[in-house]
Amino acid sequence: MTVAKLRELYVKFFESKQHLHHASGSLVPIDVTGRLDESLLFNGAGMVQFKPYFRGVAQPPQPRLVSVQKCVRTGDIDEVGDDSHLTFFEMLGNFSFGDYFKAEAIAFSWEFLTSPEWLGLDPTRLAFTVFTEDDVAYQAWSQHLSAAGIEPATRIFRLGEETNYWPAGAFSSGPPGPCGPNSEMFFWTSNNEPAPSGAYSREDYLRDEAEGKWLEIWNDVFIQYEWQGEHKNPERPNEGYRKTGMPELPFASIDTGMGLERTAAVLNSFRSVYDTDAFQPIIAKIESLSGAKYGVSEAGDRAIRVIADHIRTATFCIADGILPANNGRGYVLRRLIRRAVLKGQRHLGFSEPFLSEVFEPVLESMGDFYTVLGDQAPTVRQTLRGEEELFSRTLSRGMDLLEKMLSKGLRILPGADAFLLYDTYGFPLEVTTELCDEAGVVVDLEGFETAMAEAQERSRGASAMDSAYGGVTLAFEFEEGPTPTHFVGYEFGRAETVIVAALPELNEQGLGTGRFAVALRETPFYAESGGQTSDSGTIEGATFSLRVLDLVKQNGIFVHLVEPVAMRGMESLVGGNGEEIAQLLQEELFGQGVIATISIDRRNDIQRNHTATHLLHAALRHHLGKHVTQAGSYVGPHTLRFDFTHNAAIPVELLREIEQTVNAEVLENTPLVTYVDIPISEAKARGAMALFGEKYGDKVRMVEIGDFSRELCGGTHVAATGEIGLFKIVHEASAASGVRRIEAVTGRGAMSWVNDQVALASQAATLLKSTPKDLVHAIGKLQESLREERRARQKLAQQGSESVASGTDVNGVELITQRIAGSADDAKLLVDRLIEGKPARVVVLAAEAEGKVMFVGKVGADALAKGAHAGNVLKELARMTGGGGGGRAEFATAGGRDAAKVDEALQAAAGFLASMVK
Ligand code: SER
Repeated sequence: MTVAKLRELYVKFFESKQHLHHASGSLVPIDVTGRLDESLLFNGAGMVQFKPYFRGVAQPPQPRLVSVQKCVRTGDIDEVGDDSHLTFFEMLGNFSFGDYFKAEAIAFSWEFLTSPEWLGLDPTRLAFTVFTEDDVAYQAWSQHLSAAGIEPATRIFRLGEETNYWPAGAFSSGPPGPCGPNSEMFFWTSNNEPAPSGAYSREDYLRDEAEGKWLEIWNDVFIQYEWQGEHKNPERPNEGYRKTGMPELPFASIDTGMGLERTAAVLNSFRSVYDTDAFQPIIAKIESLSGAKYGVSEAGDRAIRVIADHIRTATFCIADGILPANNGRGYVLRRLIRRAVLKGQRHLGFSEPFLSEVFEPVLESMGDFYTVLGDQAPTVRQTLRGEEELFSRTLSRGMDLLEKMLSKGLRILPGADAFLLYDTYGFPLEVTTELCDEAGVVVDLEGFETAMAEAQERSRGASAMDSAYGGVTLAFEFEEGPTPTHFVGYEFGRAETVIVAALPELNEQGLGTGRFAVALRETPFYAESGGQTSDSGTIEGATFSLRVLDLVKQNGIFVHLVEPVAMRGMESLVGGNGEEIAQLLQEELFGQGVIATISIDRRNDIQRNHTATHLLHAALRHHLGKHVTQAGSYVGPHTLRFDFTHNAAIPVELLREIEQTVNAEVLENTPLVTYVDIPISEAKARGAMALFGEKYGDKVRMVEIGDFSRELCGGTHVAATGEIGLFKIVHEASAASGVRRIEAVTGRGAMSWVNDQVALASQAATLLKSTPKDLVHAIGKLQESLREERRARQKLAQQGSESVASGTDVNGVELITQRIAGSADDAKLLVDRLIEGKPARVVVLAAEAEGKVMFVGKVGADALAKGAHAGNVLKELARMTGGGGGGRAEFATAGGRDAAKVDEALQAAAGFLASMVK
């Protein structure tokens, strides 16, 4: 049976049981409401995208769903290349949200596995595990086994949470999210032996399972609880979670997962998933490209399998918008690509990039079912090639270095060395570990971690992402929580309302800071969210006036951080005791009618930037490709910043085109249409882009700008694009590996940017005594005269160094005379240079420029002590050439007239000097 046929059968079976076929989610774990699941790097199970359905916070289109989910799991990466472990696989799953539960789910599984109409597997070759305490699941399997004439105790085994809880070990250690006990189904794959019969105990099962004779093919999870917890150490998420609670979900649900490749192998009596048609075309391609044969050597086979696995993972990741990077998902991708390249080079003799070619059979065999592969094919090929070339460039140098390290005969590779390979040569740690393993050397992993932590420490602060998106973090504990605020700021900039809560802001000593938090029944103030900055403005009551500085949203309550402009008792706010201030706020403010007004000009500025951000996002996808996804944004009054996934700097011309596309939309003056409370499925069907990290319910708000842009968005926007005025990109740079950042301005911000540029040009022109129009010409001229100046100096320096040879001894003083073509200034420079570090020297230069002669003389400290006098020497020389002048003993200048007499005069200098130094 082919994998395509198995997919089809599975979906058909569950459709016959009233399940609706739901599309696979992205490998980036975005749930059905468009929200990024922060607890996961990748989508690794069919249930991931459905978490809001399990929680009852969003409504599934139908209570029963069936899906084929693309999954990435890299936890078992070291085992990839054996018979059954993969980093990319497809999971077939059926789901019930508060509909059927354990007994029915187990009945469906039994029927699909054993019924001749469906998979028709031999029931004696099946075994089942259930969670220790799960008598209901045990009973359900028992009934089916007994009916098939099989003794239940020989086929059902009770195990702990490590295997029989989803996620594994979730009961004790999380991660946070919907969870519950599960029941796994195994197939006896040991082809040569008949399935065990007669007495067969739990111990027998555990032994055989460990030996790989039982292969897990399917898992039914009975979702009942929400595991709650927090990171033990937020700085090091790898250390896991601390449990804070595990409440029951509003209803019980079913989540199941059948491994497509494994089950296909079982159905075809193959030993390995790599024998299935999911892999055969890929393996054939690797064989033909490398000339190596599959099935000949163990190392060769393993290399081929690793490449065949990793290419699928890499391909699907890139198609879902993930790009190689040095952190997060991008880093996992990078590791997989590099590992595959290395395997190919070391074991299969590849010396040229090959991965993008191995992509072709993946596209051929899976492109029909996953159309995203075809859509993204150019990006996939280009990314694979780019990454492979990048790695190849440093690979051989890194390999040489590692070999050198290993040739020292060490037994442990120091962590710092492993880190050097990682950091400078791009060797993923497990690649280094693998290579060391082969040489019988152990890598000091702890040392590696330390080196890594130190490097991170060094680069902290260099990361622009750290602070760019940090808003205020206020945490006010309202004892009797006011009801969620009604936000009226989409329509109004002003609201007549009532204060429903007020709390002091306290410093670490518990004393008032002078500021406090206020909640209103309704508010026109937008609270920072989705990148859009909070509004500021005022709250005015009959007896007080407050300035709103900032806001946060807490459980639906808009918390206004304010400082009083006028208020009875406001003196006691700063430094006062917390309880007294709370009392004062209660008396003065609570229940008071107020008028809340936002700074409307500022809001308009923000809105222009927000709408422009949507236009920019769409324009980027248009010009750069659909792999562009938002990685962060900041929408403030003065500027907007947009971070997005893209691997290369954007050339200036392309940046101009992007800008022009946005401005063309501005000039269209397209009215914005906001759809409130439309079903998320409809928004998605219309191509709306979701902003990661935002919470969306089942009903969403969608902002549409003609046909150009549709985004799920809770922010505020201009009424029509023309309000933006002008959109101007002012900066483009890298924000992080694989992430670019664009900064732009609009409206008044663009106006002042333009004015600044004009002022700059005019200041520069004034300095150059030119006009802005002629600025370029003037700079050209300036550069030319600088070049001339430089040439002249070089010539001079040369003349100087030549003249050094011509020094003559005059009673222990070294005299240098020289005739140069240049001005007096040139001569002064040269004289300095020649005297520098030579205290016993006297230098006399004659500079000729435009028919005039200028003598410059300088005397070193020792020569001075011996009686040398520059002024007196020069006076004589000037006279000889019909001029005059003189000066101090250390330094003097004098003018001459008759250029024809210059040489003669210079020759006479020694005589004059000799008369002074004895
Ligand atoms: N979530 C479960 C698993 O991945 C069943 O789908 O095994």
